[in-house]
Amino acid sequence: MPVNSLLRTMAVSAVLLWLAACSADDATAPSPVVELSKAGNPLADEVRRLTVARGITPLERPARVRRELVQLGRALAFDKILSGNRDISCMTCHLPAFGTGDSRSLSIGQGASALGPDRLHPLGAFIPRNAPPLFNLFAIKPLFWDGRVFQDDLGQHHTPAGDRLTPEMTRVFEFGTLSALPLMPVLSRSEMRADTGNELAGFTDTQEREIWNALMDRLGRVRKYRRMFEAAYPGQRFEGMTFAHASNAIAGFFTDKLTFNNSPWDRFLAGNDRALTPTQLAGAKNFMSARCSVCHNGPALTDNLFHNVAVAQLGPGQGDGAGGRDDFGRMRVTGLPADRYAFRTPPLRNVELTAPYGHDGAFTDLRAFIDHYSESDIKLRSFDVNQLEPALRGSVLATFEEILATRDPLLQGVVFTPQQVDEVTEFMKALTDPAARRLDRLTPGQVPSGLPVDGRRGGSGHGDDLDD
Ligand code: HEC
Ligand code: HEC
Repeated sequence: MPVNSLLRTMAVSAVLLWLAACSADDATAPSPVVELSKAGNPLADEVRRLTVARGITPLERPARVRRELVQLGRALAFDKILSGNRDISCMTCHLPAFGTGDSRSLSIGQGASALGPDRLHPLGAFIPRNAPPLFNLFAIKPLFWDGRVFQDDLGQHHTPAGDRLTPEMTRVFEFGTLSALPLMPVLSRSEMRADTGNELAGFTDTQEREIWNALMDRLGRVRKYRRMFEAAYPGQRFEGMTFAHASNAIAGFFTDKLTFNNSPWDRFLAGNDRALTPTQLAGAKNFMSARCSVCHNGPALTDNLFHNVAVAQLGPGQGDGAGGRDDFGRMRVTGLPADRYAFRTPPLRNVELTAPYGHDGAFTDLRAFIDHYSESDIKLRSFDVNQLEPALRGSVLATFEEILATRDPLLQGVVFTPQQVDEVTEFMKALTDPAARRLDRLTPGQVPSGLPVDGRRGGSGHGDDLDD
């Protein structure tokens, strides 16, 4: 037997051993939160038991958010008034039609034209990372791929803006970390602010407060926004508000309108054995008994931690490494070499709708990402650049050995058969809430600034009312 296939056979037996150890653990599992099936479907019962052992519990919907705050947040998220040259809104990169992503491996920021697959920048500029979907963010602790926006155990907010994010501002926050996040994209020159051509561009990158204040000046000149802010924060005058009020409103909109917990998987967790197809059930078992659920666990299917799962690096990079084109991921936040190339475990609900995948969109196909976990070292070394859009093919870094040096040990020896990959892929599709396929109604007909709204379907808009 050639050494290679011998090693592979050994790896397979290692996985089998690991699976056996895993089911032994289940004897000590805590008492089930999920209902066991009454009809007696042994596979369904087994999946439920494994689920409990992994701490995978139902995802509860957060409390409803007051309507006026949601309306304000939605208007701001779709309004290009928040960008320096008024040419891009938050939702230009988080398009409802593409599962709140943009269908690109890497996003394309201000100064570009068209949307999603057609979007083009005159200089060919890309944002260094993939635009993640905005689903169920209320349940996710560290935000951004490297977790640089987070709240510590004492409730302190941490962002790259340091002490320019003041206690006066954070007091306004109602949605934890998520309330802080919208403060960030408006600062970024490549995403929204631009280098020239507007009053925000002139500030230095550490004049965050001045930029936020200038945005509030802009918003204050639109009478409708003053009214909306004062309706969203009863008893407060617009003059006394900061951009934290805007940021918190956007978080309220996301929390209220982008929570999805009615997928077949959720119905299965609620006790319906027939919610999953037999193939999806088999895939769920693989997912629970293999290592997937060691990282993708908890109600949102993320451990809220950071791991290197051997994804190839591509695009302009974050200024790391020799040529500056690398992205060290979590290490950029912690400074720890062990965190190099680690990224936050993504939540998986609606993952079917949000290709491409990974922090830099290295995989355009869901099955390919799952297949990658099987012998990920071999897969990384033979990464196929042809799955990428032509403009990015030449940008893949040959840092495979560096990436493998800090690969998460959990990936060691993971081998799947093609059938198991198919089954897990089918299971991923059981995580789709049908409502997430119909997000178009979130796009307003118009926004208070009167600027054009990206992603709006032809014809006249339906006014600003948002049905529940
Ligand atoms: C140019 C495209 C672009 C624009 C405009 C944009 N984003 Fe994003 N968004 C991204 C990318 C890319 C990331 C990932 C960045 C990272 O992790 O470093 C991201 C990350 C996020 C996240 C974190 C999600 C997670 O899972 O951690 C949230 C929330 C978000 N954006 C909301 C917004 C809001 C609100 C605005 C407007 C104020 C906005 N975005 C504007 C591209 C964009
Ligand atoms: C060691 C922890 C870990 C394990 C084990 C793991 N994942 Fe992941 N998963 C991650 C991280 C971290 C990422 C993001 C990696 C990146 O962007 O570089 C990810 C990304 C993904 C994505 C892409 C999601 C997106 O929105 O881009 C899918 C799908 C996925 N994992 C499914 C699985 C499946 C199925 C398994 C089991 C075969 C699995 N994962 C095992 C941590 C893990």
